Amino acid sequence: MAGILANFRNTVILSVILALVMIIAYSQSPHGMDAAFWQAVARWLHVFFGILWIGLLYYFNFVQIRKMPDVPAELKPGVTKYIAPEALFWFRWGAVGTLVMGIVVMATRGGGYGKEVMTLGLADGYSAADKGYTLMGVGAYLAIIMFLNVWVIIWPNQKIALGLVEADADAKAKAGRIAMLASRTNMLLSIPMLTSMTMTQTLFG
Ligand code: HEM
Repeated sequence: MAGILANFRNTVILSVILALVMIIAYSQSPHGMDAAFWQAVARWLHVFFGILWIGLLYYFNFVQIRKMPDVPAELKPGVTKYIAPEALFWFRWGAVGTLVMGIVVMATRGGGYGKEVMTLGLADGYSAADKGYTLMGVGAYLAIIMFLNVWVIIWPNQKIALGLVEADADAKAKAGRIAMLASRTNMLLSIPMLTSMTMTQTLFG
């Protein structure tokens, strides 16, 4: 066991195998392997990628950005050259996985669900029953804005700030500040976004 745990890749493989055992067990529910089963599998992957993405967003905001000013100049490259690029890799691809699986969850819900969510409940006329779509739609749009923020603002500016592309010191400092503010914006949007993701299913089904 220590041999597996000492190796990151083997640990992830074992974790996925254990999850697959659970998923096979869930296939024995009254739903069998119908559309609801695949929706549930998509939700599992959606939440996994969501944790990977937002977990790293929270690492940047709760830990790295706040502590960097205290790190002595000669130690800063340890973070900017080694830790941050790796964190940003999982961060931006975690965002892709979350968005893709969010869209799959929507698609597997079928019955015009995606259309209602993306129009905030306005598709086919608005009634009191559409409130849940409005609230879910707000969360989905917040998360999509956060996704675009990652790929259009944070990552291109981080590449400059971390020296992954050529730039002078001035441009690096400016890009670092833009990336920090964009990351803070995602921090700001993340907590309200999570209300839609977590409350809709229980309260609106
Ligand atoms: C990137 C755009 C995103 C889209 C389009 C999206 C879409 C969705 C949809 C359609 C659902 C199903 C809601 C329901 O059936 O009531 C859902 C659930 C959920 N999402 Fe997202 N989501 C996104 C981002 C995120 C992020 C960033 C997180 C962070 C962890 C997240 C966490 C969750 C959770 C925890 C659920 C609840 C699962 C459940 O209650 O069964 N989502 N999402």
